[in-house]
This record gives sequence, structure tokens and C-alpha cells, in this order.
Amino acid sequence: MRRFSVFLLIVFNVTCERRSAAARPSFVLLLADDLGFGDLRSYGHPASATPALDRLADGGLRFTDFYSSSPVCSPSRAALLTGRYQSRSGIYPGVFYPGSRGGLPLNETTIAEVLKPLGYATAIVGKWHLGVGPDRMYLPVHQGFDHYVGVPYSHDQGPCSNLTCFPPDIKCFGTCDVGLVAVPLMINDTIKQQPIGFPDLEKKYSDFAREFILTSARRNQPFFLYYASHHTHYPQYAGRAATGRSPRGPFGDALLEFDSTVGNIIEALKESGAHKNTFVFFTSDNGPSLMRMSRGGSAGLLKCGKGTTYEGGMRVPAIAYWPGQIKPGVTRKLASALDILPTIASLAGAKLPRVHLDGFDMSDVLFGHGPSKRKAMFYYPMDSNEKTGLFAIRLGKYKAHYYTRGSTLSDTTPDQDCHATSSLRRHNPPLLFDLEADPSENYNLAAPEHHEYEAVLRKIQKVKEQFEEGMVFGEAQVGKGIDPSLEPCCTPQCTPKPACCVCP
Ligand SMILES: *[C@@H]1O[C@H](CO)[C@@H](O)[C@H](O)[C@H]1NC(C)=O
Ligand SMILES: *[C@@H]1O[C@H](CO)[C@@H](O)[C@H](O)[C@H]1NC(C)=O
Ligand SMILES: *[C@@H]1O[C@H](CO)[C@@H](O)[C@H](O)[C@H]1NC(C)=O
Repeated sequence: MRRFSVFLLIVFNVTCERRSAAARPSFVLLLADDLGFGDLRSYGHPASATPALDRLADGGLRFTDFYSSSPVCSPSRAALLTGRYQSRSGIYPGVFYPGSRGGLPLNETTIAEVLKPLGYATAIVGKWHLGVGPDRMYLPVHQGFDHYVGVPYSHDQGPCSNLTCFPPDIKCFGTCDVGLVAVPLMINDTIKQQPIGFPDLEKKYSDFAREFILTSARRNQPFFLYYASHHTHYPQYAGRAATGRSPRGPFGDALLEFDSTVGNIIEALKESGAHKNTFVFFTSDNGPSLMRMSRGGSAGLLKCGKGTTYEGGMRVPAIAYWPGQIKPGVTRKLASALDILPTIASLAGAKLPRVHLDGFDMSDVLFGHGPSKRKAMFYYPMDSNEKTGLFAIRLGKYKAHYYTRGSTLSDTTPDQDCHATSSLRRHNPPLLFDLEADPSENYNLAAPEHHEYEAVLRKIQKVKEQFEEGMVFGEAQVGKGIDPSLEPCCTPQCTPKPACCVCP
């Protein structure tokens, strides 16, 4: 009798384990590029056409107070994938270039690496921007991703003046970086096309994403798909289906193309039957590139945009979507891209990396179980450095600016504070804004006639000191400089470089 029950227990255990493995949720992380707080219809833009994202917003949880960890790409993407501030992983100052010697250090643990030990299939489609490096050692295939299809950096980091951005043959508007190799399309660590063909690119991405979802589902394998779109980063481009189809011009068409891929991904989830067990999260890497004028995005009512630590630089749209699990609605709770890794780890039942994480599990916010574990958001400038440290801190509804500075990336709007001509300014006492009463950061509360705010500033100062005491800056990876011979070239022996690196 006794032996019998032991036997039963073993059978029960095995079945249980098998069932829980099969029931592990899948994850789709959708990341837009330079898409601002005011760019989506669900965030108030009157002329954007975003039917798929509207459906996510209607059927999901939309965040009003969600932050990327940096006002520019590479650091923000490092933080998103590792749950750690870019200063720890060394992703500063600024962003990577095609010939950068550095990259996201391989001992950093990405979301893909958190999920791999549990048997997840992993893929990234689109923009990596965390380094290429010697022997392409920093590509995503070395950071936990089984599959990579995309451009390893920004699609303006290579000449574009002769390239077609919209069909039938509308050339890309404006100038991109010259003196570099043409922008490559890579599959895993191999160059498939150089330069990339913009009008056909999105279909390649969308088809790959769909195939990846269907294949993983057919194998009963949980998956993690990271779709890091180039949209809506400059230069704007789109294929036939989106060209001229939005009321918002080239930016609107590029956004519509991104939206159509989001729609295709959701369709693939439904078709594969994975949709009931897939957590979808959408956000943007940083604020809008206002220097591109109407071809850049919009920060809505927020101040300034990309490159700055005003709200427009780092407060971004975000939607969590999981029908049947996450109740549709809007949340004003504080959250950040830093929180995605701990949240995914918690939903998957995965072990957290044994490092200092800056993110918090958002599950309580997602499922309406309680307040946000995140109480503060820390703002580093695009070129974070140990000497100046933090530029600003949000604690609850208050935000204090210790330093402010404009940026070329936010030039052209009427607000002079956003422009590159507004050079670094230290504020003592810090500027203080109530982001609930004054989300546009117009009315400084730290004026001599407002003694009542001294206590708030003291509290923020304490939080700042505590945070900075625990901050250890990693070796500067972008600071390792550039070696042109590291730029990815499809015909490595050719001359003269970079012009000869061409493979249609
Ligand atoms: C990665 O290695 C570097 C160099 O040895 C070290 O300084 C850093 O702390 C390590 N990072 C992690 C996350 O282990
Ligand atoms: C990319 O790598 C994955 C995993 O090693 C492999 O399954 C896939 O076939 C590769 N893709 C191509 C196009 O070679
Ligand atoms: C663009 O095309 C023109 C005419 O074919 C050529 O003279 C020019 O060198 C090309 N520019 C670049 C950057 O490739």
C-alpha cells in the first residue's frame, strides 16, 4: 500500500512538471524607435493611423507614467534587456556606431538569457544597437537569442542619400551618416544584403516574426519574440501597403507600417493558439526626435524630446496586453522599461540573474493586486558620467532637476530649453515640478516663496544619495572608441572601403 502511494506521488509530480512546462507563458516585446508620448491615437494624436495599437490599448492596460531609462537608443535598449541602468553595464557615453569596439558586455544577462534555461525559443527582429565588435562578438546570437534578423544599429548610421525609402522610387529624405559602410541586413551573424532595401524590409520582418511564432507554437515550445522596430526613427520609410496611407505624411506612413506588423504578430498569435498564453508588451526606446520636425515624432504635452531629461525625452507610451489575464484600462502607476526583465522572469517562473537589478516586478500593477513597487525614477543624461551623476529624479508625483541641458535631437521646437544652445546648467536648489498638476514642467515650485517644498526636496535628496551610493559605473563601452575595420562588410577583402561593401 505504502509503496503504491509513493509510486502515485512520483507519477503526479512528473505530470505536474510537464504541465507547468507546457503552460509557461510566451512573451512578445514590441519596441518602437523614437516614438513619443504624443504619437499614438490612444495617447491623443489626432491624425495617427494605428488600428492594431488602438486594439492593444482598448484591450490592454495603458500606462500614463512609464519611463525608458535613457533619452537615447543604446543605453535605453541595454537597460530594457538587462533590467539594469546603463551606467552599470557601461553603455555610455552616447550610442554605438557601426565600428564601435565595445558592446553590451557578454556577462550581462538579457531577458533572452533569463528564459533560455527554461527551454524558450528566442528571437530578435529589427534594431539591436548594442554593439557588433571584433568578430561580431556582441551580436544578439551571443546574448541568448537563437535567431536574429535585422540591422545591428540605427538605419541612418550609413549613407542613405541614394536609397529608396518609399516605393516606387522616393529617395530617403535628408542625409544620413556618410563615410561608413552601407547599412546591412543581417541574419544571425551573416550579412544577407548591403545596403538594405527599405520598401521590402518590413515584410521580411513581419514574415519572420509570424513564422517564428507558428513554428514555436507547433513545437509546443514557449517563446520570446523581441520586435525592435526601426519605426519611427529617421529616415522614415515604408513599403507599398503603408505608403501614402496615413493622414500624417511620411512619419504617419512609417508608424502605420509598424502598426501593421503589430497587427500581423497578434494575428499569428491567434492563428497559432498561443494568444491566450502570451504576454504582449509594447513601448518605445525614448522620446521623439524633434529635430526632424514634422518627420519626427511628438511628445504631446510633455516638455522637449529625445536627448533631454525633461519628460518628453524619457516618458513614453506603454501598453501591456494579455486578454483574460490583464484587465483593460489605464494606469497612472509608475513603471519603467527597467521593470520588464523582472516581470517576465516572474511570469515565467525563471530565476533572476544574481546581479544588482534596477527593475521591479510589475505583476501587482498588471493584475491590479496593489501599488507599484517602483517609487522613483532616476534620469541619467545620454552621456551619463560619474562626475555629474543623475540629472533628475522623480519621487512620487514630484520631479527634481539637478541639471538640465538641451539637445540637438530636440532642436526646432519653440521652447528654447530643449535646444542644443541650452548648455549644461546646474540647479541649486533643484528645479521642482509636480508632474500631476503640471506634467509639462512649466511651473517651478522650488522658489523662495514656497517654503513648503523644502521638505520634499530634502526627501528627494536623501533618495538620490542612497541611489548614488549603490551605483557602480561599469567600464565605458561606447567610450572604447571606433575602429573602421570593424564595420560589417559583406565582401571583407574588397577595396576601397567603405564604398565597396555592397551585396544586393
Ligand atoms: C562583467 O565583467 C566585468 C569585467 O570583468 C566586471 O567588471 C563586471 O562587474 C561584470 N559584470 C557582471 C554583470 O557580472
Ligand atoms: C540562425 O540560427 C538558428 C539557431 O542556431 C538556426 O536555427 C537558424 O537556422 C539560423 N538561421 C539561418 C537563416 O541560418
Ligand atoms: C549617388 O548617386 C550619384 C549618381 O549615380 C553618384 O554620383 C553619387 O556618388 C552617389 N552618392 C553616394 C553617397 O553613393
